[in-house]
Amino acid sequence: MIAIILAAGKSTRMKSDLPKVLHRLCGRPMILYLINLAKNLGIKDIYVVVGHKNELLTDLLKDQAKIVLQKRLLGTADAVNAARQFIEDKDDDVLVLYGDTPLLTDQTLKKLVDIHKRSNNSCTFLTAILKNPTGYGRVVCNDNDKIIKIIEENSASIYEKVIEEVNVGTYCFKSKDLFKGIEKIKPNTQKGEYYLTDIISIFSKENKSLEAVKVLDADEMIGINSRVDLAKAASIINQRNLTRLMNEGVTIIDPNNTYIDEAVTIGQDTIIYPFTIIERDASIGKECSIGPFVRIRGNTVIKDGAIIGNFVEVVRSIIGENSRVKHHTYLGDTVVGKDVNIGAGTIVANFDGKSKNKTYVEDGAFIGSGTVLVAPIRVGKHAVTGAGCVVTKNKDVPDNSVVVGVPARPLKRSNKNGR
Ligand code: UD1
Ligand code: MG
Repeated sequence: MIAIILAAGKSTRMKSDLPKVLHRLCGRPMILYLINLAKNLGIKDIYVVVGHKNELLTDLLKDQAKIVLQKRLLGTADAVNAARQFIEDKDDDVLVLYGDTPLLTDQTLKKLVDIHKRSNNSCTFLTAILKNPTGYGRVVCNDNDKIIKIIEENSASIYEKVIEEVNVGTYCFKSKDLFKGIEKIKPNTQKGEYYLTDIISIFSKENKSLEAVKVLDADEMIGINSRVDLAKAASIINQRNLTRLMNEGVTIIDPNNTYIDEAVTIGQDTIIYPFTIIERDASIGKECSIGPFVRIRGNTVIKDGAIIGNFVEVVRSIIGENSRVKHHTYLGDTVVGKDVNIGAGTIVANFDGKSKNKTYVEDGAFIGSGTVLVAPIRVGKHAVTGAGCVVTKNKDVPDNSVVVGVPARPLKRSNKNGR
């Protein structure tokens, strides 16, 4: 099977300079969800049709798919036709996906492909039943329940507008029938675009076999056309991620106020408190406590038993086993060993205006409240920094020593006379 993913459209309804399919959902550009769906079906030949701001998409996708340019944005049928020269001679089936339907699941697509392969259908396509079908193409059947056409919102009569079965925009075609059918599509009278959906009435009139496969969970079929759709879809993906983690043994106190990206991993018996955001590829160990009000960004590893508490941001860092970062702290480009206490209000100054520098806090160290660690810097094992001190760059704190003050200096111990 070959996949064609349509991603050339403008972001007219999104009101955006960025192509719609590059908008991010839970940290990942929308188009990558579609690429993954195709890959998870075992499809190797993936064509992405690009047009509007095509260089941005080409850049992102060059290692993942073959890029096809739609020169003028003349509609979904024209977009599929742009890939014709690469596919036409092949006898394969073609899966057509729209780049703005990222919520579809592997199971649903597998079901569609299986039904198509077992049948002799010219086209097998996904539909859904919606209480409010506004905006979607409606699937029109005759009195014998035979599919006769898909009618778009702008062309539908009032009788057609009340039809609750809608087109999801996901189709399996026999390759030869697809391109012969596209040749017969005429431009839509209102918009002048060539609608792929018109192929259904062409096939129906030619008595070609058509079959609709219903998506059971209507959430899966959302087509993202606006910022409102984008927020709705992000929330659904977030809830899917949280459900997966809870099923893996993570406690999430308030799933309505927790945001965790898809690639994040979290170990068993970790508790996530409300208003926590965990991004990209962050990895959290077992029996940790995270939040409330925490942001853990990419390239971060929090090891088993660590506590990351109120109002803490961590990025590109490693926090060792059983270390505690409990209040009002920023740690960037920092490696913290095990059993370290990072006091309230500790800030790592990792950026000197030109580059990001690293901080190391070794096992058992105790960082006093309000310490500023100016990177690059190393605080040795079991060393202590006094409250409010500023440890300046390259002035490493030796193992077992104590530094205090601004700038931080070794603490002078009182002599025998108490002076
Ligand atoms: C489309 C369907 C509609 C369906 C809905 C499901 C058509 C005519 N209508 O409507 O039946 O219910 O999706 O979400 O197909 N694109 C191109 N080149 C173009 C135009 C569009 O590549 O010239 C791409 C877009 O980038 C997008 C996809 O095709 O990823 C669908 O286009 P969109 O404008 O979102 O179609 P809808 O109006 O949502
Ligand atoms: Mg759409």
